Amino acid sequence: FQEIRTMQDMTLALFGATGDLAKRKLYPALYNLYLDGRLPENISIIGLGRTKLSDEVFQGKVRESLHDYSRRNVRASRLEDFLEKFRYCVFDATADDSYQNLLEMIESREEELGIPQNRMFYLSVAPGLVDLITSNLNSSGICKNNGWKRLIIEKPFGSNLETARQLNNNLSKTFSEDEIYRIDHYLGKPMVQNLKTLILANPVLESLLDHNQIANVQITASETVGVEGRSDYYDKSGAIRDMVQNHLLQVLMMTAVYLPEKIMDNKTRAKKTEILDSLRPIRKENAYQNIVRGQYEAGELQDTPVIGYREEPGIDPASANDTYFAARLFIDHPSWEGIPFYIRTGKRMDQKSTQILIEFKNKITDTEVLEGISPNLLVLEISPNENISMRMNMKDPSSNRFKPAWINFSTNAENHPEAYELLLHDAMLGNSTFFAHWKEVELSWKWIDPLLEAYQQELLPLYFYPAGSTGPEAADLLLEKDQHKWW
Ligand code: BG6
Repeated sequence: FQEIRTMQDMTLALFGATGDLAKRKLYPALYNLYLDGRLPENISIIGLGRTKLSDEVFQGKVRESLHDYSRRNVRASRLEDFLEKFRYCVFDATADDSYQNLLEMIESREEELGIPQNRMFYLSVAPGLVDLITSNLNSSGICKNNGWKRLIIEKPFGSNLETARQLNNNLSKTFSEDEIYRIDHYLGKPMVQNLKTLILANPVLESLLDHNQIANVQITASETVGVEGRSDYYDKSGAIRDMVQNHLLQVLMMTAVYLPEKIMDNKTRAKKTEILDSLRPIRKENAYQNIVRGQYEAGELQDTPVIGYREEPGIDPASANDTYFAARLFIDHPSWEGIPFYIRTGKRMDQKSTQILIEFKNKITDTEVLEGISPNLLVLEISPNENISMRMNMKDPSSNRFKPAWINFSTNAENHPEAYELLLHDAMLGNSTFFAHWKEVELSWKWIDPLLEAYQQELLPLYFYPAGSTGPEAADLLLEKDQHKWW
């Protein structure tokens, strides 16, 4: 079920080396891979940024980020050897000589370390620079190497179907599809990756997850944070572009692909595309029947008052942007025929929780037994904890009534590899199973586009919810029409 690949020596050129993502996620991920012996034996890491820095100062910044964000303590004995892999190249994306300097630095380090011309480019830069950098990587000769080349890019991948297609066309002038690794960090979350092994390792689940037994599937990604100083980006993007087009649809695909059957790695992407292709389109005219969009107002979060979205610094006081999104979906595919999928995400909700919940049909008809019985549930908690639990009904001997009882398997997620660690490692190995293929991105925008039009044409009302709540009431009504409820 997993192809065996070998790690090869390489160069990693990191664009956006002084940025937030590098500091919080990428350096700690590289360090933890290093401690686990999962980096290539010889790797040249070149950080690129606009600020002028010496190698020593840059290495100091990397060291600082490890102290602040690494999941494991920094071990002095190994640190210097790790930092020695890093060099810095001052870089202006618009200047030709920046690319020449980069090429020289890559080549001189390749020679110094005796490594092949395997080159990986990680773009953690403003979306407007992606085209420019990739086309210059081509014209400067950096990509005319005698080895493999790979491009890792962060979201957003376009802002609608048209811009996503343009971006993809431009990228494909320099990189082929199998050289492009589109990161969606939800695909790196251990529980999402574990969906694959769930059925494989637990044959009993196969009969349980039969499509005749399932009443509905609920995917939730609720957050307590607000816009976190990203007002410029978020007010244009909203929950639909920030969380739904990518993370939620990816988790939906992974759930729909892996729960019904065992899948080989090399079939995953084709299966995901099949699922997304079967996602029933929602036309803009009747989007209001299946979609709820919301925005948080002032409220209270863990007993602390918080301001409303429109009062957040940098947000238009009349903004009609969504900070909450819920949808009722159907996948017209034999494995999922007739089973509703409910998905939701929101900022400033009552709790941070990402989970997949499967509600089973309640087939008990005997009214005597029925009292106190509630549906069996299987909950796969993705974060903050990694947890699998199953809700059963047990008779409480003292009251002689049925009560729900949870069977729980949880692991301490504290010291698990983080999403970026797993994904960087996969990309280094050349395994793109847990990256978003262009087909998936294209189909997801195709599904989202009519909803964006519905937004623009004001065909979808914006519901308000108080910060610290579970979202707008309208989202509850969405499920009530199927006699279901959010758990
Ligand atoms: C990011 C979004 O992709 O995912 C953020 O841009 C969001 O707005 C974040 O907060 C959520 O990720 P996680 O891993 O905390 O669930």
